[in-house]
Amino acid sequence: MGIKQFIFDGKSQTGNNIFGKMLSWLDSPLRLKYDDPMQLVKAAGIFPGQKVLEIGCGSGFFTPSIARLLGENGELYATDLHPVAVQETRKKVEAFNLHNVIVQMEDGMHTGFADASFDSVLLFGVVPAPVISTSLISKEIYRLLKPGGIYAIWTKIPFWSPSEALKAAAFERLPDQKGVFRLRKC
Ligand SMILES: C[S@@+](CC[C@H](N)C(=O)[O-])C[C@H]1O[C@@H](n2cnc3c(N)ncnc32)[C@H](O)[C@@H]1O
Repeated sequence: MGIKQFIFDGKSQTGNNIFGKMLSWLDSPLRLKYDDPMQLVKAAGIFPGQKVLEIGCGSGFFTPSIARLLGENGELYATDLHPVAVQETRKKVEAFNLHNVIVQMEDGMHTGFADASFDSVLLFGVVPAPVISTSLISKEIYRLLKPGGIYAIWTKIPFWSPSEALKAAAFERLPDQKGVFRLRKC
């Protein structure tokens, strides 16, 4: 078994401990000095009352900000491939008393959601993950978005570009906002 599978398949206690440590690091208060979750989520261009999918929620660093922006009439599906991430985000959703969030385990490359289900899909802090294909996940996100829906991507990796995502499906690129790439489903 490779190291990626060991950490990401969620089946080994040691692998889960390593993954849990990575999530704690991602949720450290120090991170707030560099990444302002509300500012980044606002840059994605989501609105109150929308139905939004977050892929790769991790520790739920962005989840409360998305939920607050959507308000009580909005609906957020916070998803992750890893059971430890799902568990940590659920704890956060309960601690913050967020009633408009459903947390569930999903592989963003092959989700169980119906076509054209979402106004926006956020892929924040996920690409380029070692276990992800930008092309495959972008095709799936295209399927999940309503016509005109927004695919928002934020990554810490310098010089990353959404070129592979743009090649994967019929998206039109909108101006970036605060380092958040925004692609609209044509
Ligand atoms: C670096 S963490 C970032 C978590 C969070 N978005 C943040 O910025 O703090 C990346 C997350 O993406 C998840 N992930 C990777 N591949 C995924 C996939 N195919 N589907 C869903 N989640 C995935 C990982 O399990 C991990 O929790």
